Parts: sequence; structure tokens; C-alpha cells
Amino acid sequence: MSRRIMAALCLGAAVLLNTRCGDDADQLFYEFGEASGLEPAQWRGRELYGRYCAGCHGERGNGMGPAAPFLDPKPRDFTRGTYKFRTTPSSSLPTDADLVRTIREGVHGTSMPAWTTLPDAEVQAIVAWIKTFSKRFARERPAPTLALPGAPKDLDTAARVERGQRVWDELKCGLCHGERGQGDGPSAKSLIDSEGHPIPPFDFTRKEPKGGSTPEDLYRTFMTGLAGTPMPDFAETTRDDTQRWDLVAYVRSLRAGAAKERR
Ligand code: HEC
Ligand code: HEC
Repeated sequence: MSRRIMAALCLGAAVLLNTRCGDDADQLFYEFGEASGLEPAQWRGRELYGRYCAGCHGERGNGMGPAAPFLDPKPRDFTRGTYKFRTTPSSSLPTDADLVRTIREGVHGTSMPAWTTLPDAEVQAIVAWIKTFSKRFARERPAPTLALPGAPKDLDTAARVERGQRVWDELKCGLCHGERGQGDGPSAKSLIDSEGHPIPPFDFTRKEPKGGSTPEDLYRTFMTGLAGTPMPDFAETTRDDTQRWDLVAYVRSLRAGAAKERR
């Protein structure tokens, strides 16, 4: 039997058994890929995505993998091209680096795992594949990333926290998050995301933010919003960086304050 036929047979079995077939088969695999018009990274990404991600996000990236009915929140539907965690403005696509960061760090408090041990090249290949699910990536470029400065040294002072509370009240964060950030504001129960699923506003006193909990992560969330959810961005409605860091200081104090009360 020719090596190519052997490789093709092995590939068929490998897909079923989730194993690998060696270099001949890999070569053939990439030739198929070329014939289908995919770039090598996309083709490699497709295989890895099928192995690691499709169980939740679905073979076609529509968020309807076999595990999806059992998960809350639901896995992202990649066909929409809407991403929560970005360094770009809320209406923009994420950058590749944003997608890599989410895959590496996972999404805290959800079933989305942190993929810490996958080699960089594999993560890049998966990103290339995910982007094929939405036409947006073929039509648009991500907008320039926002300037995201480091936190000031005096972040957690009482004066900042106090000013931050005033910003919180002014911007009406409590409408959704509740007066003291417990996720129980007057609008809380009626919020839905762009995929139609109910989405509770964040409870600052108990949870770890999905997009990361460092001061810089919180600042990024305020500046970029969480696209596809009712959580707006505050890039325009805040006056300057002083106000934004005051707000970061205040929301950090909500968690610290609640932890003290529970003790
Ligand atoms: C066990 C289920 C599960 C697996 C496996 C999984 N995910 Fe997710 N993923 C989720 C869930 C749930 C969310 C939505 C979290 C949310 O919106 O709060 C998500 C969200 C995402 C997002 C969206 C981030 C954003 O900015 O909106 C990306 C990107 C992502 N996953 C990539 C991957 C990749 C790549 C893999 C495979 C390497 C993977 N996921 C495997 C459950 C999973
Ligand atoms: C219209 C409702 C609404 C308003 C107003 C609102 N939020 Fe949110 N916010 C949400 C929702 C819903 C989520 C949860 C999104 C999710 O789980 O994906 C959220 C999540 C967050 C998170 C957590 C992000 C993460 O990484 O998990 C932070 C921080 C936050 N909001 C801060 C604020 C601040 C500060 C204000 C006021 C300046 C504010 N929000 C105003 C609806 C709102």
C-alpha cells in the first residue's frame, strides 16, 4: 500500500480515536488544508479547536457544543464576532493578543478554563481558526487599542475611595450593580445579553471579576465595557484618569469591606 493511502487511513482512525499519525499524515493533513483554501495555521487550529474547545463552543463555533446545555453562563457564540474582553473600544473587534490573553487566563467564575500549558504556536493557531467563524474578521480590522496606563501609587487611599463612591453614584452604577455593589440594583433582574440569556450584574462583594481583578484589569473593563452585555464602557462619560482610578479604588474597597464584615 502506498504511504499516502496508509497515511489517509491512519488519519481517518486518528480523527475517531483522537490520536496522531506521524509526519506523512501531517503532510497530507496540510495538503488537504491547502486544497480547502485554509492557511496552515487555520488548518492546524481547526484540529486543536476540535480537540479542546468544540465540546463547549461547538464544532461550528456557534456556542452549541454538547456541554452547552449544562453551562451557565453559556459558552461564547463565535459566529457573532462580539467579544467581552478587549483592549479596543467596545464596538471594535478584539486584537489577536486579546484573544490569546482570554485563552491563557480563562474567564474567572465560569466554565471557561485557563489554557496555561498549550504551546504559544498552538494558541495562535486556535485564534486563527476562531476568527474564521465570523465574517467580521475578514471585513474589519480591530480599532487601535486604548491607552491603558499603570495604576497610581496612592490607589487605595481613603480619599480616593470616597471620591470613587461619588463617581459611582454620579454614573449610576448602582442601577444595575446595587447601591453597595451587591449585584442587586433595580434593573438587575431584567438584564439580558446579546444572545438573549439573562445576565446578572456583577456582585462586587463576593465574586472575582471575569476580566481579571488587578487595578489595571478593572480600569480596562471600565474603558472598554463588556461588549454583548448591558455593561457599558465609561471612556466618554468619565472626565479623566483621576476619576477612573477613583472608581477603581472604590470598587476594590467594596470587596475588601465585605470580606472584613464576613470575618
Ligand atoms: C468547559 C467549557 C469550555 C471550554 C472547554 C472552552 N470554553 Fe471558552 N468559554 C466558555 C464559556 C462558558 C465562556 C463565556 C464566559 C462568559 O461570557 O462569561 C467562554 C468564552 C470564551 C471566549 C470569549 C471571550 C470574550 O472576550 O468574550 C473565548 C475567546 C474562548 N472562550 C475561547 C476558548 C478556546 C480557544 C477554547 C479551547 C482552547 C475554549 N474557549 C474552551 C466555556 C468553555
Ligand atoms: C445597565 C447595567 C449596568 C450598569 C449601569 C453598569 N454595569 Fe457593570 N456590569 C453589568 C453587567 C450585566 C455585568 C456582568 C457582565 C458579565 O458577567 O459578563 C457587569 C460587570 C461589571 C464588572 C465586572 C467585569 C468582570 O470582569 O467580570 C465591573 C468591574 C463593572 N461592571 C463595573 C461597573 C461600574 C464601575 C459601573 C458604573 C460606572 C457599572 N459597572 C455600570 C451591568 C451594568
